[in-house]
Amino acid sequence: MTGHVYLIGAGPGDPGLLTLKAKDCLEKSSVVIYDRLVSEEILAMVPCDAERIYVGKAANSHVLPQADIDALLVEKARLGHTVSRLKGGDPFIFGRGGEEAEALMSKGISFEIIPGISSVMAAPAYAGIPLTHRTLAAGFHVVTGHECLHSLGTPWEVLALSSQTLVILMGMGHLREISEKLIANGRAADTPVAVIQWGTTLKQEVVVGTLGEIARVVEEARLQSPAVIVIGDVVRLRQTLRWFEPDMAWSR
Ligand SMILES: C[S@@+](CC[C@H](N)C(=O)[O-])C[C@H]1O[C@@H](n2cnc3c(N)ncnc32)[C@H](O)[C@@H]1O
Repeated sequence: MTGHVYLIGAGPGDPGLLTLKAKDCLEKSSVVIYDRLVSEEILAMVPCDAERIYVGKAANSHVLPQADIDALLVEKARLGHTVSRLKGGDPFIFGRGGEEAEALMSKGISFEIIPGISSVMAAPAYAGIPLTHRTLAAGFHVVTGHECLHSLGTPWEVLALSSQTLVILMGMGHLREISEKLIANGRAADTPVAVIQWGTTLKQEVVVGTLGEIARVVEEARLQSPAVIVIGDVVRLRQTLRWFEPDMAWSR
């Protein structure tokens, strides 16, 4: 009998942010296929006798090419396994979960999507930055800073003029270029920016600066991927709402 696939969002890093439904699916899996940003604590929930297959490395380079990951999911399900495909954050936000679901659907494999808490909002929340606020931002945009991953491109000239918060994932490699493009298209150089590395984890680090200086500040602090970049006036709220620091025992 053909098996079943759960496409699971593992959340942003803090294992406490895994959903109950995701935990339940993991506990009944015989195969788990996982990416780089999935924590050890979450993998520990997988039954000892389940096969674990690591397929992810960094943003655009996988241990296995995407087509092979799709084929692996189909192959394991056809062997009758209950497969958990664990992806960081939410599987349908910049995680190619949509492509994996399409591959399963095209081969007639049954699957379920288990949404996860995305780094889009979790990393800012752990940095004390609300993405919306009644007097500061009526909404937010989420884009990738890694344009080549997205053939549709990002309308930086439009985003530059928006008064809403801008959240950028996978933007660390292009931070200087992005900030220059936003300023060239009309965003004020003194707009506050936060960069949150390894958000929600014990390795979380946050730096804050203005749009004009953030690339230099991040370089000096040696922050790298994975990080969420938040641009907009809501970043100022961190001064008063900062609540989580990995070295503060009470905040966990
Ligand atoms: C391929 S995308 C996957 C996003 C994921 N599906 C989600 O919903 O969070 C990877 C990017 O997510 C962001 N990211 C994921 N986990 C993060 C974390 N714990 N802290 C900061 N950024 C994170 C980074 O921008 C990273 O480059």
